[in-house]
Amino acid sequence: VRSQIVGCGSYLPARKVDNAELAARMDTTDDWIVERSGIRQRFIAAEGELTSDLAFNAAERALAAAGIAGSAVDLIVLATATPDHTFPATATKVQRRIGMKHGFAFDLQAVCSGFVYALSVADNFIKSGQVQTALVIGAETFSRILDWNDRTTSVLFGDGAGAVVLRANRGKGSTQDRGILSTHLHSDGTHHDLLYVDGGPSSTQTVGHLRMEGREVFRHAVINLASVVGEALAANDLTAADIDWVVPHQANRRIIEGTAKKLGFPLDRMVVTVDRHANTSAASIPLALTEAVTDGRIKPGQLVLLEAMGGGFTWGSALVRM
Ligand code: ACO
Repeated sequence: VRSQIVGCGSYLPARKVDNAELAARMDTTDDWIVERSGIRQRFIAAEGELTSDLAFNAAERALAAAGIAGSAVDLIVLATATPDHTFPATATKVQRRIGMKHGFAFDLQAVCSGFVYALSVADNFIKSGQVQTALVIGAETFSRILDWNDRTTSVLFGDGAGAVVLRANRGKGSTQDRGILSTHLHSDGTHHDLLYVDGGPSSTQTVGHLRMEGREVFRHAVINLASVVGEALAANDLTAADIDWVVPHQANRRIIEGTAKKLGFPLDRMVVTVDRHANTSAASIPLALTEAVTDGRIKPGQLVLLEAMGGGFTWGSALVRM
């Protein structure tokens, strides 16, 4: 059994904030942000617009693309570091709104690697036979955990959501080889202080703000991403030349370029949205994947490699035959 991606969808809040607007509010410039990160704009959720709202909209679009009713979904795994509430899981709010009355729904927290983690978890439920149809969502409102007085972090992130519908492919007919071929997950708790939020229910009883040692995170990101992409290629007996598209987590254009160079992937086979979306954490990969599927770059049958790295540190990859 393989978990086949049968539909993708994404959602961005209406409000677009470009670098010039940030430069009017804080001591930064469009040039600095573009040169260091490749980011030109980001989308910011409206007051009262919650992670569950972004997630629901992305989920509805993914279900429509798959031609599957919400009531037919057996499992929702929602990756987020910015849930609506401490509990219950934001996934259960989405469950109610899509009209799913059976099965189960939960949140998963692996920050920017969340979508790859969630895909891997859902894939394993499908492979075990426990689930036929799963909705995997990455949804974030990072604007709510940014310290808007800290120019070194606040310019880098945005809000958004993306989702995919996975369905058990029992290997019949022309689509028999389509689906997730392998996933590879890693974490290492020793670098906590390089990227974390300085609040939380147990530690401070506050939500807190994102804190990051950008230069150190950058260094670890390129090393870990190259390693986990190499692992995926080796596990499937492939080389970089066999991969049609890489859909990387969108943290920074220079991290994407650095990883591409290290692995010998041409940049024109990397899907890049960071210029327009900024870093939307767990939402960035399904947002980029949806864009490239919708505009026809990624075609059925192609090999696509997803890769991400985030706080924890966490990192991982997923190789998918679309
Ligand atoms: N505008 C203008 N100047 C700024 C800004 C800003 N927004 N932010 C920092 N600066 C200044 C700094 O104060 C510093 O000034 P100084 O030299 O006078 O002290 C100077 O710019 C250089 O700062 P650095 O932090 O050394 O700049 P660097 O080239 O490392 O770029 C950046 C910073 C963009 C954060 C980079 O390190 C990076 O991208 N790191 C990866 C972080 C990341 O993407 N994390 C995402 C989460 S994890 C993940 O998803 C992988």
